[in-house]
Amino acid sequence: MKVVTAGGLDFACEILRNGGLLAFPTETVYGLGGNAYSDETVAKIFQYKSRPSFNPVSVCYSSFCQASRDVEINLKARLLAEQFLPGALTIVLKRKIDSKISWICSAGEDTIGIRVPNNSTALNLLRKLDFPLAAPSANISSELSTTTAQSVCESLKNCEDLVVLDGGRCNLGIESTIIDLSVESQPKILRRGAISKEEIESKCGFTLIETEHSKSGHHKPKKPILINVRKIEKEDALLAFGNPIPGAKYCLNLSYSANLTEAAKNLFFMLRKLDSTDAKRICVMPIPNTDIGQAINDRLEKAAQNDN
Ligand code: TXA
Ligand code: MG
Repeated sequence: MKVVTAGGLDFACEILRNGGLLAFPTETVYGLGGNAYSDETVAKIFQYKSRPSFNPVSVCYSSFCQASRDVEINLKARLLAEQFLPGALTIVLKRKIDSKISWICSAGEDTIGIRVPNNSTALNLLRKLDFPLAAPSANISSELSTTTAQSVCESLKNCEDLVVLDGGRCNLGIESTIIDLSVESQPKILRRGAISKEEIESKCGFTLIETEHSKSGHHKPKKPILINVRKIEKEDALLAFGNPIPGAKYCLNLSYSANLTEAAKNLFFMLRKLDSTDAKRICVMPIPNTDIGQAINDRLEKAAQNDN
């Protein structure tokens, strides 16, 4: 494992040109990137993450225009792009017949999830390359996403030849919102994320169909996690929101001022920190279910399901 900073951008590009993998920052969470044209490289991404092969990975581009080489753009997609890109959206569209994107990315579907990250390090990297990057979140499958270079190293510690491009802490801290426009008459929201459904609907003037949440599985800490907690025990770690409940063994606060944007930014970072303590459980105070709070609660509910 090697960590380089923004000064090491050329080195990072060389790794990617040689078919290697690079973890890099985006405004949402860190991505695990590799040449999206190469079957061999994309297969390696799945292997490094222990990701099931039926779960497609999205592809990062330096601009919406670049992405239009690989997917069929429709009017609604154009609207979304004008309003939000670069930004925390993944748009699923029909693949063009002559697209060179590895079929392993799309897990056998004839669609591709495109993403243009709003992060200068990521954009500088993508502009230097003459191929787009297949890039799922940089974490072992079913674990929490990562928002710092250090947590990437912890999560992917078994990937010895991995290079991590350190761009500091991710600005938003929660994954992108996924919109499926592969059938334009049925725009769907596949995953709630950093941009709220309501904001998309009001800015773009169409209604999004709610779907059963994406099949990406449950991302969870190792410790049991309890949500909407109002009472705690002294062996507990508390993830507070607003005025903290007193008496926890460890306490981190998503946002003292009860600000949802700040809470989203802190969510995975603090969950990972509390997960590494010797507390028995992680107790999370109630988070209002409005705006980005819906994406936060979605992640917390999945993390709290005790199905293993
Ligand atoms: O914010 C993000 O989206 C981050 C950063 C790194 O870009 N990436 C991310 O990737 O969260 P990942 O692979 O952990 O989650 C992307 C989700 C997957 O659950 C996958 O099911 C869905 O996007 N997805 C990707 N391509 C798709 C496609 N063609 N059709 C349907 N869903 C797709
Ligand atoms: Mg993920």
